Amino acid sequence: MSAFQKETVLSVKHWTESLFSFTATRDPGFRFQNGQFAMIGLEVDGRPLMRAYSMASANHEENLEFFSIKVPDGPLTSRLQKIREGDIILVGRKPTGTLITGNLIPGKRLLLLSTGTGLAPFASLIKDPDVYENYETIVLAHGCRQVSELAYGEHLVEGLRSHEFLGPLIRDKLIYYPTVTREPFRNRGRITDLIASNQLFDDIGQPGLDRDTDRIMLCGSPAMLDELHAMFAARGFAEGNHSQPGHFVIEKAFVER
Ligand code: A2P
Repeated sequence: MSAFQKETVLSVKHWTESLFSFTATRDPGFRFQNGQFAMIGLEVDGRPLMRAYSMASANHEENLEFFSIKVPDGPLTSRLQKIREGDIILVGRKPTGTLITGNLIPGKRLLLLSTGTGLAPFASLIKDPDVYENYETIVLAHGCRQVSELAYGEHLVEGLRSHEFLGPLIRDKLIYYPTVTREPFRNRGRITDLIASNQLFDDIGQPGLDRDTDRIMLCGSPAMLDELHAMFAARGFAEGNHSQPGHFVIEKAFVER
C-alpha cells in the first residue's frame, strides 16, 4: 500500500494573490485529530512532492480542506496553486502534530494564536464541539500584514456563527481577534506586542494572561513562535507534548509558509 492516498479536488478558492484554500475528497479510513497535519502534495515527474499541511477541516466533516500560501518559486505551492476541481492530490496516510487538546492540561480559556496560514489548524479546532465543552472561552487571534489576508478567517468565523449546531456555542464562547500590521484596521499590531502590552485582552474585555486558567496553542511564522515561546516560558508556562501535557503547545512542522 502506498504511503499516500489519492484524493480528488472538489473546489478551489483564491482569497488573495498569495492565499488560497481547497477542498478534496476524504478516504473514510483517513482519521485524524482536530489540529493535526498530514503530508499533502502532487505527483511531479512520477514522484510525490509533499509538504506538511494542517487539516483546516474538522474530523467530523466529510471532505478535507486546506489553506495554503502561494510561494511563486516554491516547489510545491507554485504547482498546487494551479489545481482545479477534478485534479488529483496526494494525502499522506499518517496525520500527526502537537496542536491537539490532549497535549494541554485542563484549563478555562483557550488561546489560539496564529499568523498567516498558521490559522489552518485552528480552523479545524474551532469546529470541534469538544473544544467548547472543555473551555469556557476560546480566543482565536490571527495576525496578517494586510486586511485582505484575513478574508479566509473572517469568512470561516462568520459561517460558523450561523451554523445550525455550532452557531450557539460559537456565539457564546468564541472571541475572534484579527489584527493587521501593515495597513489601517480596527486591531493593529503584532500578536506578540499585543499580548506583551495586554492590549489584546483589553480590546476583547477579558482578564490578562493567567497560567492557572489559560491554555495556549501557537502556529505561525517561526519568529513569532520563538518570541511567544520565550514570553510564555518566562511567565512559567510549560510546553506540552504527547508524553507530557503542558500549558502551551507549538507546531514546528511547517517550513514553507
Ligand atoms: P509584520 O508585518 O510586522 O512583519 P508574514 O506574512 O511575514 O508571515 O507575517 C504574517 C504576520 O506575522 C504579519 O502581520 C507580521 O508582522 C507578523 N509577524 C512577523 N514576525 C513576527 C513576530 N516575530 N512576532 C509576531 N508577529 C510577527
